[in-house]
Amino acid sequence: MGESTVSFELPPAAVRGVGSRPFGVYVHVPFCATRCGYCDFNTYTAGELGTAASPESWLDGLRRELDLAAQLLGAPPAADTVFVGGGTPSLLGADGLGHVLDAVRASFGLASDAEVTTESNPESTSPEFFAGLREAGYTRVSLGMQSAARHVLTVLDRVHTPGRPVRAAAEARAAGFEHVNLDLIYGTPGERTEDLRASVDAVLDAGVDHVSAYALIVEEGTALARRVRRGEIPAPDDDVLAERYEVIDSMLSAAGLRWYEVSNWAASTQARCRHNLGYWLGGDWWGAGPGAHSHVGGVRWWNVKHPARYSSVLADGALPVAGHERLSEDDVHLERVMLELRLAEGLPLDALDAGGVEEAHRAVADGLLERGALADGRAVLTDRGRLLADAVVRRLVTS
Ligand SMILES: C[S@@+](CC[C@H](N)C(=O)[O-])C[C@H]1O[C@@H](n2cnc3c(N)ncnc32)[C@H](O)[C@@H]1O
Ligand code: SF4
Repeated sequence: MGESTVSFELPPAAVRGVGSRPFGVYVHVPFCATRCGYCDFNTYTAGELGTAASPESWLDGLRRELDLAAQLLGAPPAADTVFVGGGTPSLLGADGLGHVLDAVRASFGLASDAEVTTESNPESTSPEFFAGLREAGYTRVSLGMQSAARHVLTVLDRVHTPGRPVRAAAEARAAGFEHVNLDLIYGTPGERTEDLRASVDAVLDAGVDHVSAYALIVEEGTALARRVRRGEIPAPDDDVLAERYEVIDSMLSAAGLRWYEVSNWAASTQARCRHNLGYWLGGDWWGAGPGAHSHVGGVRWWNVKHPARYSSVLADGALPVAGHERLSEDDVHLERVMLELRLAEGLPLDALDAGGVEEAHRAVADGLLERGALADGRAVLTDRGRLLADAVVRRLVTS
């Protein structure tokens, strides 16, 4: 029983060219201490898993998957970037995360200048944890902060105390991490502008070189969605979200953190997340772990979601692939416009068809795209355009 798998092979045309484009490895850690009310990621608490799966059986499966991956790719490229995400990777401890990186080294190898990131929840970190991560070879840490306001964290069902993420960021920097990210969520019902300002001030005090800020999304099936449906709390308001985005952008820009993707700001080019840039620029990556998605040469596939099923399929020597698809030319075009238009460098106009270029000129007249950039052959969002990025994408993809 359990989720079904499909047999999967990569067509030679997809494998050709692997290694000539940036290659990333994503590892999904499907464990959390508790479930935050807004989150619909593929993650499980110990209570939900019972004896069906454990970090040990997951790591066993991960090693097998990475070995099969390297075989399937023939001459596996060294990973330019590794991103261990979740879930809560820090629950594995520095030793566990060291084993994860060893498994990537053993299967793919790491490029000498590889960017190696792990997400971490502030409450499961310590100075010793960060020192252990450095020793294991991690170069970057991403911490979920969400907000500095206690009442906002309560609505989000976050378990950490308000000051802990900033202290964790300082501990990471003291352990030698030059690249540290804090994640913020804005627009939570009950959050006031001054709460958000205080959160951004706290981020700036922490001295991190990267910030991600996401508008709260009410995901179907979450505790938050049930509370909104029952009328206990209002849904986030679009006008408020736009206002809040402007507050974040102006405070971060004034402090020298510049946007390089609509939801991401960095202190320098080196501080940008190379792994995520690989996703946004259509690179190749192998996503290992339950529910992880992969993309190589225009083929996309995804794994079974449950950790028990994941480990048992791999124990039988098969890849845990639940589905796959080859992207059509139209899919590739739409994705390219959707993702590259969100970047500060924008989208080269030659990626658009004639109708799209015409629309780009109209979008300049409407104040949504930069006039100067368009003259230089690129579609780059204005400040107003960033607030309406999805609508601009719809206009530029005319077919
Ligand atoms: C899925 S979490 C994984 C990292 C880690 N467990 C944590 O919570 O910090 C990555 C980030 O996604 C964002 N996120 C998750 N669900 C979201 C939602 N419904 N709306 C907006 N942002 C969300 C949060 O900012 C979170 O830090
Ligand atoms: S937001 Fe992070 S800690 Fe919270 S349930 Fe989702 S993955 Fe786990």
